[in-house]
Amino acid sequence: MVVQGEQFTIQGNSISDLCAEYGTPLYIYDSEVVARQYAKLKSVFNVEKLSINYACKALTNISILRLMHSLGSGIDAVSIGEIHLALKAGFDPNQIVFTPSSVASSELSAAKKLGVRITLDNLDAIRYWGVHHPGIPVALRINPGVKAGGNEKISVGHSDSKFGIPIRYLEKVRLHLKENNVKVIGLHMHTGSDILDVSLFLQATDILFEVAHTFQNLEYLDFGSGFKVPYHPNDATTDIDLFGREVSAKFNEFCAKEGRQLELMIEPGKYLVSDAGTFVVRVNAIKQAINTIFAGVNSGLNHFIRPMFYDSYHEIVNVSNPNDTLEDYSVVGYICETDTFAWNRAISKIRPGDLLAFRNAGAYCFMMASNYNSRLLPAEVLVHEGIPYLIRRRQELEDLFRDLTDPEIHWRG
Ligand SMILES: Cc1ncc(COP(=O)(O)O)c(C=O)c1O
Repeated sequence: MVVQGEQFTIQGNSISDLCAEYGTPLYIYDSEVVARQYAKLKSVFNVEKLSINYACKALTNISILRLMHSLGSGIDAVSIGEIHLALKAGFDPNQIVFTPSSVASSELSAAKKLGVRITLDNLDAIRYWGVHHPGIPVALRINPGVKAGGNEKISVGHSDSKFGIPIRYLEKVRLHLKENNVKVIGLHMHTGSDILDVSLFLQATDILFEVAHTFQNLEYLDFGSGFKVPYHPNDATTDIDLFGREVSAKFNEFCAKEGRQLELMIEPGKYLVSDAGTFVVRVNAIKQAINTIFAGVNSGLNHFIRPMFYDSYHEIVNVSNPNDTLEDYSVVGYICETDTFAWNRAISKIRPGDLLAFRNAGAYCFMMASNYNSRLLPAEVLVHEGIPYLIRRRQELEDLFRDLTDPEIHWRG
C-alpha cells in the first residue's frame, strides 16, 4: 500500500475503490511486494543449489501459492491439507517439504503416498516410519537448543520447545533408522519467528553443521526461517544481506570440507507475504470514554487476531481522511471480548464510516480467522499486474449453516 496524493493505493488501485467494489472488511494482497521480497531473499545467497520453500501456513490462498510457483518457490507444508493445496496449485511433489509437528502416523503415510519430502520430528514418528515405510528416506528436524524469537509463543528452537528432536536423542534415532534401512537425506531446524539478531541464527546454524557432519547421506540442509520484518515505520529488521552472506560462506565451507555438494533450503513465511497484505475495515462507531476515544470497527479478533494473540503492532492509517489532525484512538473490534487492535494510537481524525487500513496483514492474519460470534469470513483480493482479482469470496449467512447436521433429537421438556 502506498500513498499517491490523497489516496492510498495498491498497484494504482485506490483502496477506497477496491472496498466499494468488494466490500469490507477486506484483505488485499500486492503481488509486486511478494515478488520483490522473493527476489531480494534469493539475491543474498551465494550457493550452488538453493531452495526457497514458502512456509505456506502464513497465507495459503491458492492464488498466492500459484504466485509463489510462478516465482520459482517451493513449499513448506505442515498439514496434509496444505500439501493438497500446493499440489492443486501446480507444485511438483518434490518441491514440497512436509514439516509437521505431532501429527497422526496416518498423516505421515498419506504424505508419503503423495510423494512429498518428509521431515520427522519425534521418536514415535521415527519408529512408525521404520516399521511402515522401511527403506524410504526422510529428513529430521533437530532442536538446536537455541532460544530465539520475538516472543515466547514464537520461540520454538529452545530445549523445552515441542518442536524438533533434541540432539541428545539423535543416537537413538540413528539406530532405529539404521535397523530399517531408512536414510536421512535432510536435516532441518527452525528456531522461531521475528529473530532480529543474526548471530542467533548463526549459532543454530553451527549446531546444524556439527550434526550434519555425522550423517553421510544428506542431500540438503534446511535452515528454517524467522526473519523479522518491520511493523513500526522505523522498526529494525533482520539484516538479511548479512544472514545470506554468512550462511552461504559457512555452507560452502562445510560442503568443501566434507567433499559433498548439498542443497541449501530456507522456508520463509512472513518475509515473503507480511508486507504484501493490507486489511481494511470500516468504522461503525466513535465512543468517548474517560481515558480514550474508541473507534469501533466492523471486524475484530475473528478476522485479525495477531494484535491480541501476539501483542503485535500493525500500523493503522485512516484511508478516508488521511491528512487531518492526529488524535489518539483505541481501535477496537465488534466481538464480545476485549479485542483491541491498538490502544491510544495517534491516527488522523476518525469519523464513523471511515475506512481504516492495517499494514503488514499478509502473514498469519486471514489464516487465523474464524467464525467466532457467528461472524462471516471476509473476502480476499490479489492485485496482480495492476488488476484486482477476487481470490476468496466473502462468506454468506448460508456458510454458517453449511456444516451443521442438525439431527432430529427428541428434546425433553
Ligand atoms: C517450521 C517452520 N518453518 C518456517 C516458518 C515460517 O516462519 P516465518 O513466518 O517467521 O518466516 C514457521 C513459522 O511458524 C515454521 O514453524
